[in-house]
Amino acid sequence: MEEFWFQRTAWLINVVAMIIMMIISWLVFCYGRWKTERRGRDETKARLPSGSLGWPVIGETLDFISCAYSTRPESFMEKRCLLYGKVFKSHLFGGPAIVSTDAEVSRVVLQSDARVFVPWYPKSLTELMGKSSILLINGSLQRRVHGLVGSFFKSPQLKAQITRDMQSYVQTSMNSWKDGELVFIQKEAKTIIFQILVKGLIGLEPGEKMQFLKAQFHEFIAGLMSLPIKLPGSRLYRSLKAKKKMASIIQNIIEEKRRNVSKGPCDPRDAIDVLLEYSDDELTDHLISDNMIDLMIPAEDSVPVLVTLATKYLSECPLALQQLEEENMQLKQLKAKSGLPLEWTDYMSLSFTQHVITETLRLGNIITGIMRKAVRDVEIKGHFIPKGWCMFVYFRSIHLDSEIYDDPYKFNPWRWKERETSTSTFMPFGGGQRLCPGLDLARLEAAIFLHHLVTTFSWVADSDHIINFPTVRLKRGMPIRVARKCIMESVQQDQNLSI
Ligand code: HEM
Repeated sequence: MEEFWFQRTAWLINVVAMIIMMIISWLVFCYGRWKTERRGRDETKARLPSGSLGWPVIGETLDFISCAYSTRPESFMEKRCLLYGKVFKSHLFGGPAIVSTDAEVSRVVLQSDARVFVPWYPKSLTELMGKSSILLINGSLQRRVHGLVGSFFKSPQLKAQITRDMQSYVQTSMNSWKDGELVFIQKEAKTIIFQILVKGLIGLEPGEKMQFLKAQFHEFIAGLMSLPIKLPGSRLYRSLKAKKKMASIIQNIIEEKRRNVSKGPCDPRDAIDVLLEYSDDELTDHLISDNMIDLMIPAEDSVPVLVTLATKYLSECPLALQQLEEENMQLKQLKAKSGLPLEWTDYMSLSFTQHVITETLRLGNIITGIMRKAVRDVEIKGHFIPKGWCMFVYFRSIHLDSEIYDDPYKFNPWRWKERETSTSTFMPFGGGQRLCPGLDLARLEAAIFLHHLVTTFSWVADSDHIINFPTVRLKRGMPIRVARKCIMESVQQDQNLSI
């Protein structure tokens, strides 16, 4: 009996000793891991660019937003660049971020692919766009959709169609302007450019359906900067509902196009035609219809704002307005003499007009910057960006850098006589694999609008000022009091256009 108890106690001691050993080993292992992680964190911390993470949770977001609402949004960056250099760490929109105002670092970020950086947007935006949006997808599908849409946007057929439509819509709109009337350029440009965009993307002509789509689109984009709460009645919920209604209109258009395709092949007339031609298991009808709406996001507002800003800058620079007028009048008279209509190539070859557009893009910074998320640790020009951190490339600071541009706050279209636009110091359309596929269209549409404006009207601008946050726009919509120029010339030109 004694032996039994002895054996049993020994066995119990062994078990307890084993358990204690296991616990000690586990604690030693955890401590080791914690130490390695801490060392890793300390090393990461030491390698991070200088800067401040600001307050817990909100970081430096409030300071960023208050600067963004001011007349000098870049002051947030300026203060920090003085303290920490052109690349610094911060904490913005709920997460840690590395901010770049350095042209070379920004160029490298834009050129990097999804193995290094992926797009980053606020939660409400990603909810609204959906996982298959061109603005969010990566890898081969993004390259495919970007390539197909981009080459269609660059095609001479589309540019010719857009030129015809834009001329007709601009003239219809401008014909209704009365002498001495106060015209709001932002609103006029928005109406015209939305019609052009929708026709180019889904082939819809102006009319009741277009009006319905426009109303739904405005309901949709109102939620892009909302709180990410998806409860019935919330802003995000209403925006998602509007997107569903738009998607169903586009689905019907796709079905109709499919029925027509079965009757025989025809040339692509809009972006849906192009994507349908290549549709497969990856490029589904659902993905196409959703993306048509997402394609409207970067395009709908930016071109009207470009035109509006150009009108403002020209109103404040009579010399530039005079040279623009002369260049466009010359073209108008030349075309009137030849009896030929204006082609898209005519607009694109107006060199001073293109300098005005370029300078407006530089000074106006319609898209102030882009955000990416690092998918792995990365070092650019000696600046360390840890995995999971946001990278904020702030174009505005680069475009207004006095080391790059003389007198950067001055509207000076002549500076582009000697400068290239395809450099790393000029990036209003982004760069790399996500370079804006609509950049040629944006320039063409702006040139057409400006041509008709300066050759048909002279004007006196009412006071207005630029708001930079959350999107760039004119507070009052750029009101100008218009006076019609020589009627004979306009009539002659109208005749040419309708040939
Ligand atoms: C003044 C006018 C415009 C400006 C300043 C502008 C600017 C930009 C910028 C900066 C990007 C890059 C975004 C990024 O890297 O994440 C971009 C992308 C894009 N833009 Fe534009 N854009 C303009 C007009 C247009 C137009 C007219 C269209 C279409 C008709 C368009 C369609 C797109 C699309 C689809 C993308 C996403 C490309 C991708 O991620 O693959 N944009 N735009």
